[in-house]
Amino acid sequence: MDIDVVSDAVGSDQPVCGPLADAWETLSDFQVVAPADPNVFAYFRTLDRVLAALGESGEVEPVETVMLHVDYLADKAGCDPSVVLGGGDFTTHPQIVADALVNISLVLQQSVRSRPEQLPEGVPADVYTLILEAEAKLAGWCSREKALTIARIVLEERPKTCVEIGVFGGRSLMPCAAALRHNGGGEIYGIEAWSPNVAIENATNEANDDWWSKIDFAGIKREFYRFAAATNLTPHVRLIEAPSGRAAGLFDTIDFLHIDGSHSMVNAAEDVILYARKVRSGGIVVFDDVNWASTAPARDLLGALCDVVTVLKDPASGLDICAVLRRR
Ligand SMILES: C[S@@+](CC[C@H](N)C(=O)[O-])C[C@H]1O[C@@H](n2cnc3c(N)ncnc32)[C@H](O)[C@@H]1O
Repeated sequence: MDIDVVSDAVGSDQPVCGPLADAWETLSDFQVVAPADPNVFAYFRTLDRVLAALGESGEVEPVETVMLHVDYLADKAGCDPSVVLGGGDFTTHPQIVADALVNISLVLQQSVRSRPEQLPEGVPADVYTLILEAEAKLAGWCSREKALTIARIVLEERPKTCVEIGVFGGRSLMPCAAALRHNGGGEIYGIEAWSPNVAIENATNEANDDWWSKIDFAGIKREFYRFAAATNLTPHVRLIEAPSGRAAGLFDTIDFLHIDGSHSMVNAAEDVILYARKVRSGGIVVFDDVNWASTAPARDLLGALCDVVTVLKDPASGLDICAVLRRR
């Protein structure tokens, strides 16, 4: 394929997934003949634009890795990396140029392979990749739709102080943390007892209480911390290992609140009374399992403080599962 065709595709405003992916493939296939080949300089001019587009879509890691190879090449050529990426004339040993192209191509190919086919609307690649990873690796109940909803809210509203009551494996907390990282700031405080005694402190129903009394909370907690560290989300995650009723005093104002702790009548209502009142006017509350009989009083209390923005429904049953509300 002609390299100029690739340049045109990269320069267009079309979505990153289509033309850019084609461009990467083409760049990856490109064979270097010699360092003086004018196509080499065209390659690096195109690469510069590919890196800019990758950076804009939040794919920091491949950009950093490619830049290591560009820096090395520039060092060997005795010039600035901006000369290489600007398509300027540089000279070094052909093998060094060939090695750089092969290494850069491998990084770009890997990036194409690991990126999702189609990004959901309003969710950048770094956040979506994290949502898929959390879904695959962490225990919990957060559906794809709910994770995307949380991420979109955080990306649009840009909250600073986020609180989640009921973390379990982190399936809903990590998407929030990934969106905060994308925003460049903010923390999600997870409040989780990881204790069967706390989980069944007040009855919900027999089957539910029996299930919670047999959970390997130590293993769930270990995987939560392992995932946060492996994905570099720890700067945005704070964990308060305590019953929610004892942690409310730590917060003055909350920008984003997710209530998904105990679904017992007492605890769910207590979480609303203690935490939802601390959400600032205009802040967001996500309330899970709105269709449970035991969460009905909590839902009514929330209605006295907030307006409903949207309700997520279970696609199979059509039942309301999760409400998004805005504090008056
Ligand atoms: C439904 S799960 C949370 C699911 C999680 N948000 C997700 O999307 O996968 C409820 C969690 O709340 C925790 N929990 C129950 N009562 C609690 C309390 N009083 N204080 C803190 N955490 C509690 C349980 O240990 C359990 O992990």
